[in-house]
Amino acid sequence: MALNVAIVGARGIGTTHAAAHMNDELSNLVAICDVRKDRADALAEKHGVKAYYSLAELLANEELDVIDVCTGGNENGSWHFEPTMEALAAGKHVLVEKPISNDLAEARTMVAEAAARDLYLGCNLNHYFTAPADKAMEYMNDGKIGEIGYCLHRMGFPGGIATYAPSDAPRSKEFPYFHVKAFLHHPFSVMRHFCGDVTHIQAFMERPSFRRGANDLMVSVNGIHMTFANGAIGYLSSQRGDYTFGLGGWWSVEVGGTTGTFCIENCVEKITYWPAPDPKNAAQPENLKLGQSPPPVVTESGVTEFNTTFPNRIHAFLEDVTNGVPKEQIRASGRDALAALEYTFAAIESYEEGGVLVRPEPLPLLKGDPLTQD
Ligand SMILES: NC(=O)c1ccc[n+]([C@@H]2O[C@H](COP(=O)([O-])OP(=O)(O)OC[C@H]3O[C@@H](n4cnc5c(N)ncnc54)[C@H](O)[C@@H]3O)[C@@H](O)[C@H]2O)c1
Repeated sequence: MALNVAIVGARGIGTTHAAAHMNDELSNLVAICDVRKDRADALAEKHGVKAYYSLAELLANEELDVIDVCTGGNENGSWHFEPTMEALAAGKHVLVEKPISNDLAEARTMVAEAAARDLYLGCNLNHYFTAPADKAMEYMNDGKIGEIGYCLHRMGFPGGIATYAPSDAPRSKEFPYFHVKAFLHHPFSVMRHFCGDVTHIQAFMERPSFRRGANDLMVSVNGIHMTFANGAIGYLSSQRGDYTFGLGGWWSVEVGGTTGTFCIENCVEKITYWPAPDPKNAAQPENLKLGQSPPPVVTESGVTEFNTTFPNRIHAFLEDVTNGVPKEQIRASGRDALAALEYTFAAIESYEEGGVLVRPEPLPLLKGDPLTQD
């Protein structure tokens, strides 16, 4: 049976989520809530559902299973805490947009609250809900990557000096870490998806001369070096439309291991796999000289539209809730989002201290962890 869902926050991303719920057989979209009446009314009318202007009123009047929090706020995250906590207090499962919050203490509280109430808390870490990311996991599970040595991730909108426009948006103006907090959630979550927990972080951040000239405070260019608990080493390069990434497009991740390497390009579009040279099994071992490797395997997804990640991710959350998957095993959980935020704050600390090495705070233990049991 479909889950009864209401969306809180009816602007750009709430609109995208509403369409995904309407097209998902696991979802029964019941209502739209926005403190802005015009926005709630317009989106509710579009889908023929009820409009509410306060979450308390919505919770008091509807039988709901899931609240999908699509609010934004400062640094795109300051309006996530209150509706999430209110929905959890009412016993509802929550899917919250990213970043889980722009505030670390709030994010930790949200994750702890969901665990204490034994409710599902998922975050819309949609960037790895793609066919290329699934294929990459298949390569990893089949032993075709082996022991991971490195992870290189580049993520940032294409741009340059000609496309720069200073913004007066309250969510970003006066917030030097807007890009870092609002956006790095994605690449950190992608890197952790493939390589696991990060143990050490060192960050450098900058802004190009045209931002300086416009008194734009945002440190929009980030170079972040990290080590993973599994021994791999990672590098994340991100920027916010200041430059245009070359190879791999606006979003690429390359993970190299002892038996092979994959690279995903443009997030949804394509994955290439390079088997590591193996002179024993090669048809022509004499051809595998230094600098040479067997031919790569290219898999095009046939998808170019990034927005397909939204229905994919939302469906995964609905599926996990419907199937009663153990809370600690759901895909892209609140705890996974908290990890991305811990890394974000570690990167900020490193940058503010001139590039020192920072160890992100450990995550709360998972239920079922032997350390938590007698
Ligand atoms: N996952 C992705 O790929 C992706 C992409 C873009 C944006 N986002 C995220 O989506 C979120 C929403 O983005 P947006 O651009 O639509 O935000 P927005 O600020 O334009 O819209 C948020 C809406 O929420 C409403 N709202 C705020 N607090 C409320 C409350 N307590 N109760 C009811 N309504 C409330 C506001 O009135 C507004 O209409 C942000 O957190 C952003 O980071 C995610």
